[in-house]
Amino acid sequence: MIIHPQIQGCVARNCHPIGCRAAVEQQIAEIRAAGPFNGPRRVLILGASSGFGLASRIALTFGAGANTIGVSFERGPSDQGIGSAGWYNNIWFKQAAEREGYQAINLIGDAFSDAMRQQAIATIRQLWGEVDLVIYSLASGQRLLADGRRVRSVLKATGQPFTGWGLSLEHNALVEQTLPLASTEEIHDTVTVMGGEDWQQWMQALQDADCLAPGVQTVAYSYIGPASTYPLYRDGTIGYAKEHLHGTAEAINLQLAELGGHAWVSVCKALVTKASAYIPVLPVYLGLLMGVMKERGVHEGCIEQMRRLFADKMYGAEGVIADGNRLIRMDDHELDPAIQAAVSALWPKVTPENFTSMGDFAGLRRDFMQLNGFELPGVDYEAPVNIDALGELEP
Ligand code: NAI
Repeated sequence: MIIHPQIQGCVARNCHPIGCRAAVEQQIAEIRAAGPFNGPRRVLILGASSGFGLASRIALTFGAGANTIGVSFERGPSDQGIGSAGWYNNIWFKQAAEREGYQAINLIGDAFSDAMRQQAIATIRQLWGEVDLVIYSLASGQRLLADGRRVRSVLKATGQPFTGWGLSLEHNALVEQTLPLASTEEIHDTVTVMGGEDWQQWMQALQDADCLAPGVQTVAYSYIGPASTYPLYRDGTIGYAKEHLHGTAEAINLQLAELGGHAWVSVCKALVTKASAYIPVLPVYLGLLMGVMKERGVHEGCIEQMRRLFADKMYGAEGVIADGNRLIRMDDHELDPAIQAAVSALWPKVTPENFTSMGDFAGLRRDFMQLNGFELPGVDYEAPVNIDALGELEP
């Protein structure tokens, strides 16, 4: 079967499995080229199959020699379709890691469930007994609670609705998008899905099962952004969830004190991922930001961000480098006042007619396509892909 991209709005409806392999290999090559660094050896990654979680896994394995267990929620090939990019990312990562002699276990299923926590605990006991680092990198639109209730997160505004230009990746066009006003219930639900409760439940379960090594670290990923994006993010429903995540880090930190362990939040830079492409209006900021940061030579993709996080800000000679609120600031370059001034000067001038000549919307689009295995150099997209043969591969 020859696979062409199917994009709907800002969501990819299919992926190119061979292109996904090229994307994983590209990230591995970047980490190899950047050289080894000190890091943890036994790592559990929740949300390991794409975006920041996958980049963390690649950086730690190929940069610091880590063995990993990765949890993710992905679909394999079936009558319904080719399967998800994350499914193939898991397979290709595992193959590459095992070729080098590293352990790479993929657990596929719902990370919010107690069953998955128990499966992860059983795997840790069997392989290592305990873990040195737990990465919390889930991005989800819903969470199934233990009582059977399905709670959905929403991307909405609070205070007042917000309208601006958004990006349709399907049509490569700007379209007006509105973040409607969230109800109090929607704010609470978004906190339930994307806040810190589940992270804490994981850490508690791991600690109760004696699966955390002395001096264990855990880190969750967050975003704050500049004031110009507050109506979309920090002051929106997702911002409430992130605030809750930050507060939870303090609670987990206290919980880990008896092990000499610590919990951190890494505030990352805005980057193109499956999750961020979905946030209304934000991709327009992102396209402008990418242009400005590339012009000034400070652009980073997921893989560069994650390498810098572990090599320089968590496991470097100075140990963890955090701000006064115990946040690890990976958004330092993004929030540089000169960068923000340049982005803010462009943003009001963006129109559907001129946006392709501003910022780096072509780069943003390419990054998005590459997340799904398309537009990677060296891949023959006219060659048929044998899905039946791929279906034989175990994640
Ligand atoms: P992503 O969509 O690329 O990855 C999400 C991961 O979560 C995938 O591995 C997916 O399989 C997994 N997942 C989702 N629901 C699951 C479930 N029920 N059970 C098991 N696994 C599940 O997202 P991205 O962007 O890498 O996001 C990760 C974290 O980083 C999020 O907390 C996000 O808010 C944060 N972040 C993202 C930024 C960005 O610009 N993309 C910026 C700063 C923080």
